Amino acid sequence: MGKKYKIAVLPGDGIGSEVIGVGLKVLQKIAEKNNIPYIQKVFPFGGEHYLKTGEILSDESVNELKNYDVIYLGAIGSPKVKPGILEKGILLKLRFELDQYINLRPVKLYPGVETPIKNKTEKDIDYVVIRENTGGLYTGIGGFTMKHTEDEVAVQSMVYNYKQVSRCLKYAFEVAKNRPRKTLALVGKTNVLTYAFDLWERVFNAIGEQEYPEVNREYYHVDATCMHMVKQPERFDVIVTSNMFGDIITDLGAMTQGGMGMAASANINPTHKTPSMFEPVHGSAPDIAGQNKANPLATVMSLKMMLDFMEQPKAAAEVEKAICSVTSLDLDNMSTSEIEKAILSNIR
Ligand code: IPM
Ligand code: MN
Repeated sequence: MGKKYKIAVLPGDGIGSEVIGVGLKVLQKIAEKNNIPYIQKVFPFGGEHYLKTGEILSDESVNELKNYDVIYLGAIGSPKVKPGILEKGILLKLRFELDQYINLRPVKLYPGVETPIKNKTEKDIDYVVIRENTGGLYTGIGGFTMKHTEDEVAVQSMVYNYKQVSRCLKYAFEVAKNRPRKTLALVGKTNVLTYAFDLWERVFNAIGEQEYPEVNREYYHVDATCMHMVKQPERFDVIVTSNMFGDIITDLGAMTQGGMGMAASANINPTHKTPSMFEPVHGSAPDIAGQNKANPLATVMSLKMMLDFMEQPKAAAEVEKAICSVTSLDLDNMSTSEIEKAILSNIR
C-alpha cells in the first residue's frame, strides 16, 4: 500500500455541504476500488461558523491545513455576512497563504449536455483556462482618501511582478505542451493596460521562444476572447490570463459548458510544498440550499482533478467516466441524491 493521503474537507456554506457530500461518497467508492488509502477531516469554516464563533479563518487554522495534502472545498459565502468578508477571509486567504498560484479551469462540454451556443458539440468546446491566482487586482493593494466626500478617491491596483507572471506562464506552457494541439493563447489587454500586460506579453514571448518552441503562441484581447468563446470556442486549446480576467471569462466559459453546475476548478501549488485546493466554480447558491436541488457534478469533476493531482490517474479517469455516463440524463429535473445514485451506480 502506498502513501496515506490527508484530505481536508471544507463544505462551507449553502449548497456546499450537499455537493461535497456527493463528492465524498464518490471518493470513498473510488478509493476503495483502487486501494487508495486516505484520511479526511471536516473543517467548519464558512458563514455559519463565523456568525457562531467570530472566527473567519485564523492563522492557526491555516497552519493546521498546511498539514494536509489537498483541500476539498464546497462553497463559501452567506447572505447574512457582508460581501467580501468571507470571500477575502477564507477563499482568497487560502489561495494566497498556500501560494496556490494556478487556478485551472477546464471549459469542457460533456456528452449530452446542452450548450446555449447553437450548433456546437463536445468537439468544439474543450479547452482549459489557466487563471493566475495570487496576484493582479486581487492583491488588495489600494485604498481611499477623503472617503464620503466629493473629493473621494478610491484606488485598486493591478499588481504583477516578474516572478508571478513567469511561474504562471511556465505552468501554462507545460500544460499546452502536453496537449495534442500544443497551442497557448495569452489573454490580456495590451492596448489599454500597457504596463501590466506589456510585462505578461514580453515574458510570454521570451519563455515561448527559449523554452517551448514546439508550442504555438497566440494573443487575444480579453474582450475579443469573450466574443470568440461564444462564436468560435473551437479556436481555443489552452488560455492563460490574469486573475481578474480569468475570473470573468470562466463564468462565461461555464455557461457555454452547460451552466455553473458543470464547471470545476483546481487551485494549485505545483511545487506540492503546500496543499492545493479543489472546488466547483459556483458559489453557495443560498436560494436553493437545503432543497436537494443542487447539481453536484462540478464538485465531482473537481474530485477528478484532485485525483489527477494526487497522481491517481486511473481513479481520476474512472470518476470522469462515471460523470460522462450521467451527463446525458435530464439533470435539471433530478435531485442531488438522484444524481449521486446515478454516478455511484456507474462506478463498478
Ligand atoms: C471564483 C469566485 C471568487 C473569485 C470569489 C468568491 C472571491 O468568484 O472562485 O471564481 O473571485 O475568485
Ligand atoms: Mn468567479
